[in-house]
Amino acid sequence: MQAFRAALLRFADDRSALYEEDGLLVVGPDAQGRPVVRAAGGYAALAPNYPGVAIEHLPGRILAPGFIDLHVHFPQTDVIGSPAEGLLPWLENYTFPHESRFADHAYACGVASVFLDELQRNGVTTALTFCTSHPHSVDALMEESQRRGLRMIGGKVLQDRHSPDGVRDETEQSLIDTEALIRRWHGQGRLGYAITPRFAPSCTEAQLRGAGELAAQHPDVWIQSHVAENKEEVRWARELFPAARSYLSIYQDFGLLRERAIYAHCIHFDDDDRALMRDTGAAAAVSPTSNLFLGSGFFDYEGADRIGFKYGLASDVGGGTSFSPFHTMLAAYYVAREGQTKPGLSLSPQHLWWQHTAGAAQALGLDGVVGNLQPGCEADFVVLNPKATPLLARKTAAARDLGELLFSLIVLGDDRVVERVHITGGAT
Ligand code: GUN
Ligand code: ZN
Repeated sequence: MQAFRAALLRFADDRSALYEEDGLLVVGPDAQGRPVVRAAGGYAALAPNYPGVAIEHLPGRILAPGFIDLHVHFPQTDVIGSPAEGLLPWLENYTFPHESRFADHAYACGVASVFLDELQRNGVTTALTFCTSHPHSVDALMEESQRRGLRMIGGKVLQDRHSPDGVRDETEQSLIDTEALIRRWHGQGRLGYAITPRFAPSCTEAQLRGAGELAAQHPDVWIQSHVAENKEEVRWARELFPAARSYLSIYQDFGLLRERAIYAHCIHFDDDDRALMRDTGAAAAVSPTSNLFLGSGFFDYEGADRIGFKYGLASDVGGGTSFSPFHTMLAAYYVAREGQTKPGLSLSPQHLWWQHTAGAAQALGLDGVVGNLQPGCEADFVVLNPKATPLLARKTAAARDLGELLFSLIVLGDDRVVERVHITGGAT
């Protein structure tokens, strides 16, 4: 067993934050021998229960759950910062040509390693990531994640039409490959597989039907895709599937909305779409830096909470501009605040942080597993230095409550704040 003494941030079931200024986190094997959080709470109350356990004291530091990135593209690590006149030209001019390079297995392995380095440097310990349409891009990600002991979920992109040579796949083979990858990787240690239709416009009906059949055969496998990101894209999807009630309902028609189905963006929705998300248990990956960079629009938090569907935060790199959860949380604040196209809300820092940790875990169906530091959770956590920069030191020293402290970190923080990352069962 190991114990860590520092300030401690966790989340309660009702989304509220729990904070101990002098906290203790005890990590050790559970009944099955898996390393988990054994106890978390105030130091004075807990320490006497663990007399023989060495306690590492980290004065002035904050222990917090490792962040979860609910939607990212590992092959787009080098696409960050590619400007375009919106989503569709961006895909055509930068993203598809870049992803075609992943036909080279060694290249895919190299980028997977850089991607995981970036996640970890930024305090992200779990991600739901797209690979490319090349099946070995999944092997590259999974092999490297396994080596590092990370809880990682990914999948081969399905895109059998409206895609250039080099990334377009073939309907039948793409489904055979997906099934083989599920068998190879899903449930291997901490790894999970996600069935990954890129978005409805890039998939034939036969491919979407096949994806839905696989999703029904493997209910604990994840599904990931994009929906209602950009107005041009919405128009195109409606043209291609004229019988569907809305863009989102295309996925419903093919059996692709259910628990463990995560849809990036969910911007151009009406209340029927929101109710469909709620009723099917699907969740939104809110991707604010991407939506601001590509000029896609603003996720409607008021609508989401009024109807009541699940959501969490995502970088959506390379449409997104940063791997840093701090940058993503700040962008989510801007997006929620926008009040010209939808109701503007001022989200609390606790709620922003929850969306990138416990809320994202709930969206994945992994609450109680990752994204929190409650007893029984896997011990993926970050050690944060609230004095990492001179301005942060001034601001956090003056913070009068938890909200002010977390807001300072969200507005001024980045990878410099993340001093250490601890992966359950692994080295710090
Ligand atoms: N829609 C289809 N593919 C993509 C992608 O790679 N990134 C984003 N942001 N949207 C998409
Ligand atoms: Zn995306």
